[in-house]
Amino acid sequence: MEIEYVRSRFIKHFDGLTGTVYTSPGRVNLIGEHTDYNGGFVFPGAVDKGIIAEIRPNDTDKVKAYSIDQKDYVEFGLNEEDAPRASWARYIFGVCREMIKRGVEVKGFNTAFAGDVPLGAGMSSSAALESTYAYALNELFGENKIDKFELAKVGQATEHNYCGVKCGIMDQFASIFGKKGSLMRLDCRSMEYKYYPFEPTGYKLVLVDSVVKHELASSAYNKRRESCENVVAALQKKYPEVQFLRDATMDMLAEVKAEVSEEDYMRAEYVIEEIQRVLDVCDALEKGDYETVGQKMYETHQGMSKLYEVSCEELDFLNDVAFDCGVTGSRVMGGGFGGCTINLVKEELYSTFIKEVRQRYGEKFGKRCKIYDVVIDDGARRLI
Ligand code: GLA
Repeated sequence: MEIEYVRSRFIKHFDGLTGTVYTSPGRVNLIGEHTDYNGGFVFPGAVDKGIIAEIRPNDTDKVKAYSIDQKDYVEFGLNEEDAPRASWARYIFGVCREMIKRGVEVKGFNTAFAGDVPLGAGMSSSAALESTYAYALNELFGENKIDKFELAKVGQATEHNYCGVKCGIMDQFASIFGKKGSLMRLDCRSMEYKYYPFEPTGYKLVLVDSVVKHELASSAYNKRRESCENVVAALQKKYPEVQFLRDATMDMLAEVKAEVSEEDYMRAEYVIEEIQRVLDVCDALEKGDYETVGQKMYETHQGMSKLYEVSCEELDFLNDVAFDCGVTGSRVMGGGFGGCTINLVKEELYSTFIKEVRQRYGEKFGKRCKIYDVVIDDGARRLI
């Protein structure tokens, strides 16, 4: 996506003046799904697709926002009662409110934005939008006094308080901290993180988008989180030190089996195993052992499909096709209920796999899946 494209729309839509242009990316996650809000590990990276926004303070107390992609214009004030109805505008409003709560004197501004991170594909288009504005408002109105972790939390709090999704920190963290060529392992309990240069020689990471939209999934997502909290509450009766499922083992979980529902037990089993898988993948990567990385990805898919139950028919099918084609690793990525699978594919297999998956998906579901090559890129930044 081009800066010039956003700029030309900004100029056309407003008074002919230019502003400052910011961008923030979507993300992939190699492994570690639904582990972030359980204090576990995640392993994301920012991608070369995201949101670009031009912004110019307008000396009023109103935000005048134009979504270029949706051709929709919204104006709103900056007080709590001024929340706009349009869902895309609520993200921007939420970020303004969360910045104000953190002491930034946000004033009115004109803005236009566009994006090329596919919506509802599990690549965190909403985190890209939040991070773009959190980063920009910090620079334009906050003298950069909010640190990067807090900027990520601004996006997360926006989801919690203005969009109804009790998400973890992974997406906003990845969008803000992303670094070209590197994945990041984040410990969501201590918030320590480490960059892992990711150049899997002989392999490619590719996303296959089922084009099943997951936007109605927020209540199911929140329900998964509740299950985890129920199990933590049961564990705490015996083990008061347990704050997250991260602090529990399978043996501890077995001890409370009778006290939790079967469903909650399955959810917790998945999470405890998934946290361990992230660590196993890191070890394997350090040894260049991509076979193990891939095997863990398949295990994650099984867990997300059968225990956490956040897959769907289309995603299970994509996973099966990958397996049949001999793809090294494949799994549903992100929150689930739709969106993409992430696939670790040997270079020599790449074109056969793409051809096969396109054809078989089309035959089975009568719709076209989309393919995105993953390029790991930088996080939130000013462009001009
Ligand atoms: C969504 C949430 C993240 C994370 C993933 C699942 O993307 O926003 O916080 O929980 O789902 O790993």
